Order: sequence, then C-alpha cells, then structure tokens
Amino acid sequence: MQNLKIEHSVTSQKSYTREDWQGGYQSLNQEFDYWIDDIEGQIPPELQGTLFRNGPGLLDINGQRIHHPFDGDGMISRISFVNGRAHFRNRFVRTEGYVAEQKAGKILYRGVFGTQKSGGWLANIFDFKIKDIANTNVIYWGGKLLALWEATEPHHLDPYTLETLGREYFNGVLAPGDAFSAHPRFDPSCNQDGGAPCLVNFSIKPGLSTTITLFELNLAGEIVRKQAHSVSGFCFIHDFVITPNYCIFFQNPVTFNPIPLALGIRAAGECIQFQPHKPTQIIVIPRNPQVGPTKVKILEAQSGFVFHHANAFEVGNEIVIDSICYESLPEVEPESDFRQVNFEANLPGQLWRFSLNLENETVQQKMIESQCCEFPSINPAYVGRDYKYLYIGAAHGETGNAPLQAILKLNLKSGERQLWSAAPRGFIGEPIFVPRPDADKEDDGWVLVLVYDAAHNRSDVVILDASDFNKGAVAKLHLKHHIPYGLHGNFTNEVFV
Ligand code: FE2
Repeated sequence: MQNLKIEHSVTSQKSYTREDWQGGYQSLNQEFDYWIDDIEGQIPPELQGTLFRNGPGLLDINGQRIHHPFDGDGMISRISFVNGRAHFRNRFVRTEGYVAEQKAGKILYRGVFGTQKSGGWLANIFDFKIKDIANTNVIYWGGKLLALWEATEPHHLDPYTLETLGREYFNGVLAPGDAFSAHPRFDPSCNQDGGAPCLVNFSIKPGLSTTITLFELNLAGEIVRKQAHSVSGFCFIHDFVITPNYCIFFQNPVTFNPIPLALGIRAAGECIQFQPHKPTQIIVIPRNPQVGPTKVKILEAQSGFVFHHANAFEVGNEIVIDSICYESLPEVEPESDFRQVNFEANLPGQLWRFSLNLENETVQQKMIESQCCEFPSINPAYVGRDYKYLYIGAAHGETGNAPLQAILKLNLKSGERQLWSAAPRGFIGEPIFVPRPDADKEDDGWVLVLVYDAAHNRSDVVILDASDFNKGAVAKLHLKHHIPYGLHGNFTNEVFV
C-alpha cells in the first residue's frame, strides 16, 4: 500500500533457484488414476474426505507456449483420503476451447492474460472471443462438483470420474455467458437460513460503471437470494469477503483502455492500468436489506492492489478485514516471459488489517505481517467470524519478494508465528485447513498442501498438523509426476474414489 511502506531489504542469499521454480510450470498432458503408495510418515486415519484442486494444467498447446499461466486450461486434481490411504486422479475440464484446441493442435483463442493466436496483430484484431478455461477454483456444493472461472458460468463435473457434464445455470438463474466468480465464500451459519450453512458468491460485469450481483445458495445448491448493484467506474475484483450481515468488495484503483485489445496488440489483462494516486474504494453491501442494514456504503482506503482476502468479521459498528495487499498491480507485458520473472524486482504481497467504521465511514489500516505471502486459508467454521488462526503461503525468507516455499501459521491474537518450509527445492501452492472431526479448538486439524519438489521433478501432497507446525510434516505423499502450480481448491468430507 502507498505511504505506509516498511523496509524491504533483499536477502543476499536466495532460498531457491529460478530454474528449480520454473520446473513447476511444465504442462502435464497425462490424466492419471492411482492409489498413492510412495508415502513418508502416516496419513491420519481420521482424515477422511476429498481434496479438489484446480489450476492451469497446460502451459502450451502442442508446443505453442501460452503467454501467462492464468491462460492455461483448467485441470482438476483430486486427492481422496480414506482409512489411512490416499488416491489420486486428475482430468482436464472439457471446455469448448480445450476440446477445439486439442483437436486442432494449436492455439485458436486469445487469452485474457496475453495469449494470442499466432500471426501477429492481424490475426487477433477485433477478435473478442475469449477462451473459457475453467481453471481457477473447484467447489463441491449442493451435491455438485463445479469448476469455476470468474468470467463465465461454472462447468459441472462428475466427482467420481471428473468427467465434464456440461455448464451449470442453477435452474436458469444464470443465462449463457453470465459470470459466476471463482471465489465463493461458505457461510457456516446463515441468519437468513435459520443457521444452516450457505454459499455466497458474486459476479462482476465491468464497464464505465460496473454491476456487482450477489448470489446466495442453499445447501441444495439452489440460488435462493440474488441482488444487483451498480457502482461507478471500472472494477477489477477477483475476491470478496462476507460477514453475517455484509459482503465487502475492494475496488482496486485501476483503469481499462480497450483500444489495444480491439487492435489485437494487447490482451484484456494487459490493458488494465494501476492508478497509484487514486484511493482503493471499499464497497460494503448489506446481505439482507429486508431485515438488516439497507444502504450500500463506499469507504476509501489508501491506494493498493488486493487479489485475495483472508477473512472479515463484525465488531459492533466496525468491520475488520484481513487482506493480502500489493503496492501496485503487477502488470503483464506483451513481450515478457513469465518464466524469466525477476522476483527481487517486485514488491511482495503483505498481510494488512483494515478496520471500517460504518458510522463515520472511515478506514484504519495497518500491516500485520510483512513476510511475502499469498493464498490464505482459515478454519471454515470461522468464515465471517472473529478468528485467531490464519494459514498462508509464504516466501522462505522474512524480507523481500520470492516464490512461495513455506506456510506461515499466524496467531492473530498473540502475534505468535510458526513456519513450515519446503525450501530450498520445494515450492508450495495454496494451503487448505481441514478441521479434525469433532474438534473443539480452532487449530485442531490439518493443513493440506501440494508441494512441487524440483529435486525429483514431482509433486507431493504434504499433511501438516495445524496445531503444531514445529513437528514437521505428518506425511508426505509422493505423486508419480508433477502437478503444475495451481490456483484454488476445496476439501469436502465426502469421499470420492
Ligand atoms: Fe484467487
């Protein structure tokens, strides 16, 4: 964030090599289905359920490189835990674009993050048809497995075979082409549903003004509440947070210039420009205007860029929000190669706490963790509630920007921190906290994470005891192959094998 910088000294000794890190960005063309038998340690027998992960499985189409991993075809990885054993399966989402490009053996679509059809600008001019890649998240809700990508409707998958069954429209509430974000929030106890869990999600329709639509889904997977709001200006919003009474969005200070996109020179994501002198607008939308607060409020915070939030909760007239903030949007350049990124030249994501006073509409903000971090996870029972523990991907070193190689456990009340690191040759993805059945402590459970091990060019599923990282890994499940660095996923107690 601007104006509140802390010192970023670059560590002289790196905890990684760029070549090792690059190894996690190779395509995985094969689809596997096997019981994992190469295991260090023991899988806790009480850990029963299924971890679903999503992310770009292909970084090239038949040797033609895509420009950015965010443009890669969605591949679901599934790790099922049952009676102390684990099973792995992966499968690509059969989107229209995946099927067509695999058949043609070449890139047929422009991607949002810079992938272009070969042939230069002439081959791309006035082509606004974007490839739906279904690569960002995967959820199991209402008896359905859904692959999510924020610009279009979800893809419905079979949780046993991972086959693509079609697109999901929620009984016609979504229309073809409608967006459904990749960052739903699971409310563990919804006031409006008599304390039953519900799923809250949103869609963004950006333009000169932007429409934000909220959806709330019951346990049966039906959209039971929907409301839409228009806010002024272009919005690039990837994530949001909920509390029992509010949905909160950060409108990052950016502008969008569509001309290079239309001319075929730049992709949509390369036409977004960060505005460092403008504030971040925080949009607070009441979830239940029939009985609760009714007015949408827009508060201002210092300029900065947020992809992901950790959690939010209400304290009297205040809303507290924990978010990973960058000083600016890391811009994607048309001629750059993401594999050659100079980590040290960029500033890290850091954890900030925002306190919104809804009465006088002011925002206080402070950094609560300066170590480079991304991909937060918490105990799902504490979503939207005051909480103590946060698990988050982190760099190995305390200062500077670097790839994620470690997981930080933060006690937000006491400031105590524990770090489990896979450095020097391991690189981690998003950690997921899974509560132990019948747990009564917030951190009683496990943290599951995929780790790319450059030494063996394969990925491990690592299980940590969330109550004590200092014990080291409870188990490391060695896969027979690597999984390209992914984005998001979720755990369900249901076992699918
Ligand atoms: Fe995300």
